[in-house]
Amino acid sequence: MIDLPKRAPFITFEGGEGAGKTTQTRQLADRLAAAGIACVVTREPGGSPFAEEIRALLLSGHLPTRGAMADTLLFLAARVDHVTETIKPALEAGQWVISDRFADSTFAYQGAAGGVPRATLAELHRLVLGDFRPDLTITLDLPPEIGLARAGARRQTASGADHFERRELAYHEALRQGFHAIAAAEAARCVLIDASGSPDEVAAHVWAAVEARLLSKVG
Ligand code: TYD
Repeated sequence: MIDLPKRAPFITFEGGEGAGKTTQTRQLADRLAAAGIACVVTREPGGSPFAEEIRALLLSGHLPTRGAMADTLLFLAARVDHVTETIKPALEAGQWVISDRFADSTFAYQGAAGGVPRATLAELHRLVLGDFRPDLTITLDLPPEIGLARAGARRQTASGADHFERRELAYHEALRQGFHAIAAAEAARCVLIDASGSPDEVAAHVWAAVEARLLSKVG
């Protein structure tokens, strides 16, 4: 049973590559709008002007050898600005917020797959954001082979393709296990949804979760 805050609800979508987070984020916002609930739709990394600058730096790929801890600190810098400038003001004004990725991505990518200890990430989160967390997190779950294929990430080169593919799969499998572990440890906040179906099928599961976990308690 979640403890609903006085502010409006904050929903996040999480999951690996190709799981359909962006599509589902938009579909949920549309469905809530049709029910008379306007939402702020945002994303990470990014979601505020300064955080979008950090996003460009993080995703540019110019510096491929940086470490997971350096990435962690940049994602956190972006997150604290995103929360301060975009998320909290909207929630406090009574608007629902849906974010395409949030803090669980750091625990899965930089933690479970990247090797930064979970306790370190938890302490950094606490120092920077206190106990601020989503009211509902929808984790879209997909076997990495399907996610990578959907994301068009399969490499076609002849030499070294298998090794690269294996490394990619191992990394993405660690990511998936990371998201599973978070969902299991925080079952009151997280719902794990099978994302292998069609977008409409997945959207129906997402809507059922939002109805059960949030709408039945605010309406
Ligand atoms: P993006 O293009 O938004 O990808 P996706 O559609 O998969 O969300 O790129 C975001 C990338 O940043 C994605 O690979 C996940 C990664 N990421 C982290 O590694 N840590 C984080 O804390 C966040 C928010 C994202």
